[in-house]
Amino acid sequence: MIELNGLRDAFAELTDRAPRFFRAPGRVNLIGEHVDYSEGFVLPLAIDRATVAAAAPRGDRRVRVRSLDENATAEFDLDDPDPQPAGAWSDYARGVALALARRVPLSGADVALRTTVPIGAGLSSSAAFELAVGLALLTVSGAALSPHELAHAAQEAENGFVGLRSGIMDQLASALGVRDHALLIDCRTEEVSTVPLPAGAAILIADSGVKHELAGSAYNDRRAQSEEAARRFGVRTLRDVSVADFARRSAMLPEPLRRRARHVVGENARVLATVVALREGDLATAGAHMYASHDSLRDDYEVSAPELDLLVDTARHVGGVYGARMTGGGFGGSVVALVRRDAAGALSAALESAYAARYARKPLITEVRASDGAAPIG
Ligand code: GLA
Repeated sequence: MIELNGLRDAFAELTDRAPRFFRAPGRVNLIGEHVDYSEGFVLPLAIDRATVAAAAPRGDRRVRVRSLDENATAEFDLDDPDPQPAGAWSDYARGVALALARRVPLSGADVALRTTVPIGAGLSSSAAFELAVGLALLTVSGAALSPHELAHAAQEAENGFVGLRSGIMDQLASALGVRDHALLIDCRTEEVSTVPLPAGAAILIADSGVKHELAGSAYNDRRAQSEEAARRFGVRTLRDVSVADFARRSAMLPEPLRRRARHVVGENARVLATVVALREGDLATAGAHMYASHDSLRDDYEVSAPELDLLVDTARHVGGVYGARMTGGGFGGSVVALVRRDAAGALSAALESAYAARYARKPLITEVRASDGAAPIG
């Protein structure tokens, strides 16, 4: 396993104790964007890119975390009475430790991590990191939590300690992934059903390489707007508004709330329609919903970026491509495409040349497969 390269040696520099290993995958979302925090429907899959942790218990109450990707080590005390975020990568580890300690007794640990999830590409490198640290800390403490509870602890770390009011999609996808399947998640009940991925199609990701600096605050703004729209409609969340309700009552919302709500309401319907289409093997219809999702994220929710729009528009003109859209929080990051397997090469070539012509560099293109969720290795 490629993630283990260098990890054993890095861990041996921390301690002589023998480590155990844990793997937590990143995710790509096929459709259902910016709806999880409105208790909507999402359709992600855990991918075959993951963060691996090596961990062993310590005799004291300290946690030492080494990140090979950051080339840095952080250390904190589980009994610190006033833990403060440092504004750094290590906040994810510390936030997870704090959230777990509210649920189970934790012991001190040495942890080393390495990832093959590209960072900042919209593929949930942070959820993969959180879940790998979480599984490692639980196991070395002799504790266990259900995948749902572990996902919640990881989300709590992001919401409460890191300061991003993210939903539950990424953590549930990383915790519950199933090989060769996408996961239909109802973010209200957190019920998960598996949707087999078509064998004849490939899932391609094109990383634009763009990282929007203000993505965190813009994300929180969008969430606040969705909550405000729900409040004005007099419902708990926008999940409770159907397409027909929206058509009848949308005039009461001022802009931009009306457009924001139109995205969420339409996206929930598109996710359910996509699942039906995939189950029927109707990839053309599934793909059409992906394109419609992108248009809605670009025009109504306003979380796309010109680089992502160019990649999606290019995909529209390549034969054998069923659909493409931005994936993840947006403002940069990646585009996901569903493409007939034998057309994947033509799509990569078209994306590279169109992107290079406009931006003088290439997007990073990878084919991903759906993988199993977070678990100990061996
Ligand atoms: C980020 C968040 C998720 C979700 C997506 C947008 O990945 O972490 O909770 O809101 O953005 O769909």
